Amino acid sequence: MKFLSAVHSSAQSAALILGAMCICLSMQIPASAQSSQAGEQKAKSSLPATAQRPWMNKTLPAKQRVEMLLKAMTLDEKITMLHGSGPCLEVWTDKCPMPIKGYVGQVPAIERLGIPHLTLADGRAGVGNKATDVTLLPAPIAAASSWDIELMSQFGHVLGKEQWDKGTNVTLSPTIDVVRVPEWGRTFESYGEDPYFNSRMAVVEIEGIQAEGSIADANMYLTMQQESDRFHADSVVDERTLQEIYLPPYAASIAEGHVGTFMCAYVKTNGVYSCENAHLLQDILRKQLKFDGWVMSDWGATHSTIDSANNGLDQQMPDASFFGEPLKKAVGDGKVAMATIDEHVRNILLPMFRQGLFDRQQPGNWDSKVRTAEHTAFSRKVAEQGTILLKNQDSLLPLRADASIAVIGEAGSTKPKAEGGGSSEVVAPYVISPFDGIGKRGKGKVTSADGDDLDKAAAAARAAEVAVVFVRTEETEGDDRPDLKLPNNQDALIAAVAAANKNTIVVLDTGGPVLMPWIDQVAGVIEAWYPGQEDGNAIAAILYGDVNPSAKLPLTIPRTAMAIPTSQKEQWPGVDGHSLYSEKLNVGYRWYDATGTDPLFPFGFGLSYTTFRVSHLVAEPAKLVLHSSTEPAKLKVTVDVTNTGKRAGAEVVQVYIGHPAENGEPPHQLRAFAKVQLQPGETKPVTLSLDARSFSTFDTAKHEWVTRAGTYQILVGTSSRDLPLHTAITAGHTGPTR
Ligand code: BGC
Repeated sequence: MKFLSAVHSSAQSAALILGAMCICLSMQIPASAQSSQAGEQKAKSSLPATAQRPWMNKTLPAKQRVEMLLKAMTLDEKITMLHGSGPCLEVWTDKCPMPIKGYVGQVPAIERLGIPHLTLADGRAGVGNKATDVTLLPAPIAAASSWDIELMSQFGHVLGKEQWDKGTNVTLSPTIDVVRVPEWGRTFESYGEDPYFNSRMAVVEIEGIQAEGSIADANMYLTMQQESDRFHADSVVDERTLQEIYLPPYAASIAEGHVGTFMCAYVKTNGVYSCENAHLLQDILRKQLKFDGWVMSDWGATHSTIDSANNGLDQQMPDASFFGEPLKKAVGDGKVAMATIDEHVRNILLPMFRQGLFDRQQPGNWDSKVRTAEHTAFSRKVAEQGTILLKNQDSLLPLRADASIAVIGEAGSTKPKAEGGGSSEVVAPYVISPFDGIGKRGKGKVTSADGDDLDKAAAAARAAEVAVVFVRTEETEGDDRPDLKLPNNQDALIAAVAAANKNTIVVLDTGGPVLMPWIDQVAGVIEAWYPGQEDGNAIAAILYGDVNPSAKLPLTIPRTAMAIPTSQKEQWPGVDGHSLYSEKLNVGYRWYDATGTDPLFPFGFGLSYTTFRVSHLVAEPAKLVLHSSTEPAKLKVTVDVTNTGKRAGAEVVQVYIGHPAENGEPPHQLRAFAKVQLQPGETKPVTLSLDARSFSTFDTAKHEWVTRAGTYQILVGTSSRDLPLHTAITAGHTGPTR
């Protein structure tokens, strides 16, 4: 169903909403919320602490404040917190306006008790939900491609700052799910295909968002790896795969990112909807991972009252159809215990106290102007740092400033492709087209051709020294791409241009991987993803070498449609509503390595205008004694990186672990990486730390992570397929591992 992709698109009308999805409740909008209409927010937080309101004393520990407040709440007040105040599911339309202008999810303030309202807003690459005067950043997959933890942290800060200044106190971001299916329509919102890599990115982005004021809501928990049939699809996945591949970003978000809330997903996992799945919500999130924040449902992902409440859903979004009156009745009927209601409220209040929402007034509201010159510069920096050079035959790039250029394809001029679609969509203040960016930066003649007419495109290419073809995919939430081909005859456009000019460079403005049947006919390929508002400036900086590319693929680009881990329809989009995760642990590059399949461009790959060498690998200690699988920084890997070329540049050192065969793991897996800046000729030693989890596997019989004694390979290099340095260590343990 295309329900949400349709309603999120500002271009489409409310008429596209499927009536079947609307569970319209004639619910009363609470008076406190009505009084806050017309964009004015009156959160009555920071009331003084009194004998009647001791929880307002901010010197007390958050947990103590929660318990004091809980005791003072009536059942109605508790229930108010457990659902959104949208009058019905169609909150994106005029039909069901939200009490406060803007925010796609809201919970009203309870003024009597000083509980502030919750204002929830989308946007993975900037504030979404049609907010204006905000910065459009590149897609998260671009930021992740920098392999730069500091940059991703800043990404969280910039996004979080604009959200907070817009009056948002719950930021519906980041999307941390592992990309399993390359056609997944939300690939651009995510970080890529590796659980460890996604964990690192998730932690710093969450920290960045929360440091600016709002609570981050990491999503979508769990097994949300496809958009096809997403309201009903059932992900059939074994426990070990769940634990080793899909859970790590969530586990890290809790343990290291201290995330306040998660969004449970639309799909089912092993037959049970995510938002009423006791195994996911209770066994794993609460008992195993010790999560003490709250779980909100994705918009329309709640399917029941009693099962959801009893199995671990804390809050229904965006309306009250299950968690409003029906929940109150279930309590009255004894079907949901008061203790369960208290637990849900506790889970919501705790992050609110921790994050200071009771103690601070927010500066702005939905109409605040929040973009700044610094954020504009940052948007450009992310696009530059996230753009990957995949092919550069005969060092055609960087271009001479005076070369004549033909900019071909509508993404190059008339329709730049700056962002993906769906709930993450941002109203861009402007987008610099590649044609404008190149025209501004270059000194030679710059022409353009839309590409609709292949003959005209070829003629433009022939008349210039270099042809740069910009191609695009239309990725959006609500839909998977039908296949990995470039849509709209763009392969033919590239072939026609390449036949007319041997100096043809293809720039991919795509949200995920595409097939490149023309790869041998073109001189250069650049993956620029969805680059945000500074599109043209950033690509010009890369093309002319003002910025030396240093980004790396966070996912594999396949050679053919069938040479992917999920090529069988039983796997994706599924048969009879079930998607079988039969590739198990072999997700992304793991599958290519396990099956000996050649990717077109491997995970971790990306070129530079200079060259690097890695040497002198040392792993210490050679014998590792592990006490538990969650120990930090146990093994130190040191390696020298040398810039062997003539330009300053940055390289990403990557460390992969190969388990002993009897552990039954994929051939090798990323466990550490670091980005190093180097002047020409310079050598720097780099030290990377590997935690004990690097040597662990999930034991489904014991239901815990275990470390088995044995010999582990340490492989180091600059992509998953370029690992020239090897050594081995032996690991053993002295006690129980968990
Ligand atoms: C998306 C969520 C989003 C929500 C609110 C849903 O369709 O899956 O990611 O936060 O809408 O817009």
